[in-house]
Amino acid sequence: MLELSSTTLVGKGLHREVHVHPDDESKCVKVVVLRGEEETRREQAYYRFLQQRNIDWLSLPRFYGNEDTNMGPGAVFDLIRDEDGQVSKTLEFYLDNLASTPALVEPISQSLIRLKQDLLEQNIITMTLKPKNMVLQQKNDGLRCLIIDNIGNSDIIPISSYIRFFGKKKIERKWEKFRVLLSKKHPDSSVIAKAI
Ligand SMILES: Nc1ncnc2c1ncn2[C@@H]1O[C@H](COP(=O)(O)OP(=O)(O)OP(=O)(O)O)[C@@H](O)[C@H]1O
Ligand SMILES: [Mg+2]
Repeated sequence: MLELSSTTLVGKGLHREVHVHPDDESKCVKVVVLRGEEETRREQAYYRFLQQRNIDWLSLPRFYGNEDTNMGPGAVFDLIRDEDGQVSKTLEFYLDNLASTPALVEPISQSLIRLKQDLLEQNIITMTLKPKNMVLQQKNDGLRCLIIDNIGNSDIIPISSYIRFFGKKKIERKWEKFRVLLSKKHPDSSVIAKAI
């Protein structure tokens, strides 16, 4: 059983704690701490669907299944890290600090444009897109944006998962909402919202 504690903690959302995997620092373990079982079930079902389709995991961390922990069942994913080994920070973090880092406006816009392209090319369906559920990975060859939470399809008949035409419509709707949310919640990012 994996032993998680305050020393392994790397992130926390409303529902889950994220810990470095005690045996493999390239992976993280996510445990539910507050009413997140249904989201976890949907996420894992969707991950299995993507695994069967053999996507290339450019924009999503890989999922490695569940392991028991002292905090209950833990879901194991790639832990996204920057070139320097630091755990990558969320898009929200970067947007909150944009005023002091104007040089990042262009690379962040580019990383988001590439993310959208990848979602469309691979027909990856997300729930609501939020900056706190994306991380920007800083590599020597540039910035990459990955979605680390809230993917999957909650439609009763998830036709958009199977038929690209409907998938494209859904991804474009979600993206439009994301742009509106960016300009509302992060006024500094209006240039980014226009570019993407
Ligand atoms: N694969 C990952 N790589 C790097 N950091 C991550 C990863 N997964 C999660 N994190 C960090 O942990 C935080 C919480 O993770 P996550 O969003 O999965 O939790 P949550 O409780 O489901 O969130 P929410 O509040 O959106 O429901 C993220 O905001 C991010 O900072
Ligand atoms: Mg989250």
